[in-house]
Amino acid sequence: MVLRWIVLFVCVCAAVRGIPRHSVRKFPEGFLFGTATASYQIEGAWNADGKSENIWDRMTHTRPDHIKDSSNGDIADNSYYLYKRDVQMMRELGLDFYRFSVSWTRILPSSFPDRINEAGVNYYNNLIDELLKYNIQPMLTLYHWDLPQKLQDMGGWTNPEIVTWFADYARVIYTLFGDRVKYFITINEPYQICNSGYGIDSLAPALNSKGIGEYMCAKNLLLAHAKAYRIYDEEFRSTQKGNIFISFSAQWYEPASDSVADLEAAHDANQFNWAQYTWPIYSETGDFPPEMRKRIAAKSAEQGFPRSRLPEFTHEEIEFLRGTSDFFGLNHYSSYYIHRNGSIPVHEVPSYADDLGVGSYSLPEWQLGASNITKYVPWGFRKLLNRIKDDYKNPPVFITENGVATHGGIMDDDRVQYYREYLGALLDALDDGCDVRGYTAWSLMDNFEWTSGYTESFGLYEVNFDSIYRTRSPRKSAYVYKEVLRSRQLDHHYEPDLTRPITIDPGH
Ligand code: NOJ
Repeated sequence: MVLRWIVLFVCVCAAVRGIPRHSVRKFPEGFLFGTATASYQIEGAWNADGKSENIWDRMTHTRPDHIKDSSNGDIADNSYYLYKRDVQMMRELGLDFYRFSVSWTRILPSSFPDRINEAGVNYYNNLIDELLKYNIQPMLTLYHWDLPQKLQDMGGWTNPEIVTWFADYARVIYTLFGDRVKYFITINEPYQICNSGYGIDSLAPALNSKGIGEYMCAKNLLLAHAKAYRIYDEEFRSTQKGNIFISFSAQWYEPASDSVADLEAAHDANQFNWAQYTWPIYSETGDFPPEMRKRIAAKSAEQGFPRSRLPEFTHEEIEFLRGTSDFFGLNHYSSYYIHRNGSIPVHEVPSYADDLGVGSYSLPEWQLGASNITKYVPWGFRKLLNRIKDDYKNPPVFITENGVATHGGIMDDDRVQYYREYLGALLDALDDGCDVRGYTAWSLMDNFEWTSGYTESFGLYEVNFDSIYRTRSPRKSAYVYKEVLRSRQLDHHYEPDLTRPITIDPGH
């Protein structure tokens, strides 16, 4: 009995002192909210109106077995034709901005700027104008994984010429859309492009060039990004007055124990997996992270290579790369425990996995929803944001993706829980002093989830892929996200009335 009174007393005191954990918490003034999609995942119209083939068209058409449900993005959400409905959904949610990507081969069918495809330009102009009509800021990603197949045939991201190819494409995009687009993202998720596309046999072009291809790609991709940034800075910024940055995929790697080996292993995992791309841009010294250079050089020498498999940057290139991003664009989904593990099967040597030399695991209770890549670890998000603050002098961060997959259904309580707790962790990070400026939910609606096809649903809106109309319906999470945006605060106890249709509030 006495114990009960003590507990009650403690709770009342906590409530009176306003302990924030489960109460309503405000987002700062000016904080921006949006949702994201990407061209290949939603547009469809894969060969309409002059668009040419990209690496995802090629892979899904020639290797359907590589995609879990043998599907493709030929029609996807059909947003090429249904973009007005998409914007209507954004108005229902009350978004500040919408992040989408441009399909390179829809704008430049030959891959090069010798001919600009008017129909493709019209599509993006219409989308941008429709967004602006309702006060939704467009955030345009230039490259979200759909490389022209023709460029892939010439080596893609492993050919140093891609720096020029990408720069030419970027100049076309700024010229066409920069009068209205004030947020540009050069490249989405370098790690996935290089490691999953070139290092292993996963994302297109699935080259499986272990221990070599991913590093060639990394160097060229970083230089291509930097060149696109500098072109904007020197030729467009003064008139267009926009922002330009890059979006990294960064998960959090936590040491599995306090042993020196595991502490070092987790540090290496963070350095290899995301600092590989962020260190050259945001650190004081530039270049690839020192631990990474050291480990790959040592392994390469042991293996009989005449030089490190990780290509070097020249002094000029190191300087050219440093500082080339107005924000730290962050896509975050998961965290893992990391321990040292040097035992990689012989046929996997050389490889990135062997160079890094760690093992990882997650806890069963971190599984939420359907996807293997998303784990529910909100504290990892907070730690990651703090690490970015500490390592890079607190750069302004834009969360450009965060979300979780389910197997479908309108009552997505898993997703509601995920968003609430991750937004809570973000607010904790703001309290820690991290400079986070905006948040983007992945995704506006279900779409083609790469090698998982349509088996994983990330949408605030459910899409019926069996219907020719690709009907979109709001999930519970859409109602909850809408309330966060309307109130600019996080209320863990808010319960939407799902019997009432989601409507467009005045002013949207
Ligand atoms: C990251 C990618 O940018 C996006 O295309 C993908 O759908 C989500 N993560 C979910 O896996």
